[in-house]
Amino acid sequence: MEPLLSEIDHVAIAVNDLDAAVTWYEDVFGASVVHREVVDSDGVSEALIKVADSYIQLLTPTRPDSPVAKYLEKKGEGLHHVGYRVTDCEAALASLRGAGARLIDEVPRPGSRGTMVAFVHPKTAFGTLIELVQDTH
Ligand code: CO
Repeated sequence: MEPLLSEIDHVAIAVNDLDAAVTWYEDVFGASVVHREVVDSDGVSEALIKVADSYIQLLTPTRPDSPVAKYLEKKGEGLHHVGYRVTDCEAALASLRGAGARLIDEVPRPGSRGTMVAFVHPKTAFGTLIELVQDTH
C-alpha cells in the first residue's frame, strides 16, 4: 500500500504553565515560538516551536473540562500525542477504519493553523494518541 504518513507534523507536550514551558525551550534550546493559538473547541492554548519542517506543540488547557486538563490530572505533564502529516485526512481515516483502528474522530475537523485533523484512539495504537494532520494551505 501507499504510505499514508508523509511527515511528523508535531509532537505535542501537555504542560501546566505554557509560558514557563516556552521560556524553558527558549533558554535551554534557543528555540522560538512561531505560532500561538487558542483552540476553543479543544479547550487548549498552544505554542508551536518549529524544528525543521515539524513542530513541538506545547499545550495547556484553557478550561477544567478540556481533555488536556483531564490528562494532566491523571498522568501529569509530558508527551500527549504525535501528529502525523497526511495528504488526505478523510482518505487516511477510511483506510484506518478499514484496518480496524479505533477512531476518536469519524470525520476530519478543523485543527490549528487552518489544518484539518482527526484523532486515532490510543487503544489500538499501542498506547499512543495519534493525530492525523492535513495541511490545507
Ligand atoms: Co496536535
